[in-house]
Amino acid sequence: MWHPPQRIAFKAAPGRIPTREEAAASRLFSPLHHGPLELSSRTWVPAMVPWRADEEGHVTDAVVDWYASLASGQPGGIVIEATGIRDVPSGPLLRIGHDRYIEGLRRVTEAIRRHSEGRTRAYVQLIDFLAVKRRPERAKFLERFLRITDHHRDALGMSGASDQAVRERLQALDDDALQGVLDAREWEALHKGARERVTDTALAHIRDLPQVLPGLFAAAARRAREAGFDGVELHYAHAYTMASFLSATNTRDDGYGSALDARLRLPLEVYAAVRAEVGAGWTVGCRLLAEECIAGGSTLDDAIHFSLGLARAGMDFLSFSRGGKFDDAKPPKVGEAVYPYTGVSGYECMPGYLSDAQGPFGRNLAATGAIRRALREAGLATPVVAAGGIHNFEQAEAVLAEGIADIVGSARQSIADPRWWKKLREGRGGSVHQCEYKNYCEGLDQKHKEVSCQLWDRVALDEPGLGRSRDGKRRLVAPKDW
Ligand SMILES: Cc1cc2nc3c(=O)[nH]c(=O)nc-3n(C[C@H](O)[C@H](O)[C@H](O)COP(=O)(O)O)c2cc1C
Repeated sequence: MWHPPQRIAFKAAPGRIPTREEAAASRLFSPLHHGPLELSSRTWVPAMVPWRADEEGHVTDAVVDWYASLASGQPGGIVIEATGIRDVPSGPLLRIGHDRYIEGLRRVTEAIRRHSEGRTRAYVQLIDFLAVKRRPERAKFLERFLRITDHHRDALGMSGASDQAVRERLQALDDDALQGVLDAREWEALHKGARERVTDTALAHIRDLPQVLPGLFAAAARRAREAGFDGVELHYAHAYTMASFLSATNTRDDGYGSALDARLRLPLEVYAAVRAEVGAGWTVGCRLLAEECIAGGSTLDDAIHFSLGLARAGMDFLSFSRGGKFDDAKPPKVGEAVYPYTGVSGYECMPGYLSDAQGPFGRNLAATGAIRRALREAGLATPVVAAGGIHNFEQAEAVLAEGIADIVGSARQSIADPRWWKKLREGRGGSVHQCEYKNYCEGLDQKHKEVSCQLWDRVALDEPGLGRSRDGKRRLVAPKDW
């Protein structure tokens, strides 16, 4: 993981703890009604992939237990992890790309309802992503994966040479010389693993994304409704397909890139298809980036433009994240896939406790507040969800009081103590286990291992009937009396 070079250590503090009466009178624990979005409080658990689905992307008992645990904190809303809208192999990522997934997903919505005593609304984050290959071994890449072209022959002065002869010469070059011969994409494929982009329009399946994606998202939303979700969150953030359409790096020239409105076109068309499928009475929102935080990436002004367009189209909420891009990610180890949270933009997305003077708490609030102000000035009342380092009542209440957002999301703090919202509401905030922002959870996510928390995953391992990680060493949910 990347840290700001200043490496100033920050510690999350509980802040002023509300009494039960103060919590009852607070903005945070007041309800929110906006169209079909009806929340018992303005508390929210943003999407987090806990890597508990099976290899076919089905819900397992461990998935159900994870969401039951989060629901026991009774937040206003929980967004279920990024869930794949295609019916294609994607490892243990939850999927919703076929009707056979509905039954399992229904177990999740039922568990959320039961364990929250009906206080928590369940949403699912719908994701599409493009192919990312693991970083290859150098020798294998040059022997097999690299397509030899005249560009290589010319660079090596080997006009007319056989592919095999070119490969042998490339193998003999040191890295500096090799970088001079390969083009930027080939060099990237060698050092980070090959990665498709929305701009690869020479590939039919990429060129056709605008024709294919609206239908895939709409079908997934229908399944979500059948599974008992209260709505969907379209994943327009981070490193994935829809965010890549919004990105300033999207230079497509087919009406779906380059100019701001062209970059927004597919996200609007996906929204329109989803809305046409589910009707007006069911929640459809999205998550997008307040800032991409990469060189040449989308800015806050871009995000304001997108947010106005998405809100005018009828989105029921807009949730803001930041960064989390492949563009500045560190090269992975050989055999591993690049992880979009390892560079500066990754830090902005999930800031850890070692930080710069600004610190890791609330780095997305200024941008989120600016977007909400622009929405309100345009007469749009669309609820805004803020997230990023929010870990105590005082801070959450200030986010609402200052008009930065309408709903407060807290991801890692909700892993550290899934019941923390309920404890705060009941005046028991003194017993909240505070997240340390050491990003142990993120490290597990990077390895696609079951996500857990350093604070609790070795506690009371003798608990009867306890679900454990595949290696048997860690518990999968916080202890019962946590
Ligand atoms: C283990 C883990 C998995 C995550 N998975 C997702 C995801 O599926 N979709 C998403 O939009 N964000 C994902 N995030 C980002 C969080 O939703 C959140 O934006 C980020 O952690 C910052 O909020 P926090 O400081 O409250 O943790 C994930 C974060 C973590 C720690």
